[in-house]
Amino acid sequence: MIPILIDCDPGIDDAVALMLAASAPDRFRLLGVSTVFGNVGAAQTADNARRVLAFCGQSTVPVAKGCERPLLRPVRDAAFIHGTSGLGSALLPEPDGALDRRHGVDLILDEIVRSADPVTLVTLGPLTNVALAIVKEPAVMARLQRIVIMGGAVRELGNMPSTAGFNLYADPHAAEIVFRSGLPLVQMTIDATHHVRASRDHLAALRTVGNRHAELAASLFDDFATDGAPEPDSPVNGCMHDPCCIAYLLDPTIARGREAYVQVETASEVSMGRSVIDWWGRSGQPANAFVINAIDGDAFFALLRRQLAKLPA
Ligand code: RIB
Ligand code: CA
Repeated sequence: MIPILIDCDPGIDDAVALMLAASAPDRFRLLGVSTVFGNVGAAQTADNARRVLAFCGQSTVPVAKGCERPLLRPVRDAAFIHGTSGLGSALLPEPDGALDRRHGVDLILDEIVRSADPVTLVTLGPLTNVALAIVKEPAVMARLQRIVIMGGAVRELGNMPSTAGFNLYADPHAAEIVFRSGLPLVQMTIDATHHVRASRDHLAALRTVGNRHAELAASLFDDFATDGAPEPDSPVNGCMHDPCCIAYLLDPTIARGREAYVQVETASEVSMGRSVIDWWGRSGQPANAFVINAIDGDAFFALLRRQLAKLPA
């Protein structure tokens, strides 16, 4: 059993990541979810997280709204990809219960303190909450088992505007605090998640699971589905970025990567938010993250189908 916390900005792919986490109560003790501005505004991402968890029968998992804006940069969302609701055209029932009264940063810190075992923190959105938690209570954050971060790229171009991944671009200063923290980091890069692009065939196979959760996951990606084999190099946004972080925790063998020294650009507008990764180890700097640059796409989709089939009808 891995005690996990998820910090996210649902978000189409965040929603599938939450469903994947909820599908494995035998593997994860989901201590809580903190939400952050990102794909859409902070109030909307919090509402979306609660709706998705309720849809998976996990209404008792505390959800706390976190930061509404980056540390220094202006807010930049990705509604052009995720829709104004943040969940595309999906309509999920109102969640029951109430939003947790704590700030997302305090939910993260409280649950780390309360956990008897070291917690794995999975970050699927901008790192603003995580950076503030590090600044506020570094000794508490030092208890973490690791932080698994969706963000950045090794060789791939980014998706914002052309060199950075959205999560690091949305708050590069927060990302710099996290990558400089010395905490144990795993970085899931766009190089890896570009192997996990939802093709029409993958979505058709997902629908054969035959339950409402697999149907929701497939329908969230219908708008981005590509014909035939996924095009590995197109900027199409139909990659299942965030679920790869959960899948990696369920089966690390689907991923490949190496320890490397990672920095985040926070000075130049030309490459703002770009993760600059010393892949060849020539900087002389010690590695600060395990950087994942490849995922077995077929193994990912087989795992996704297997797991979503376990969610309660
Ligand atoms: O670049 C992909 C990341 O940015 C994913 O987490 C997606 O949800 C967006 O937040
Ligand atoms: Ca996200």
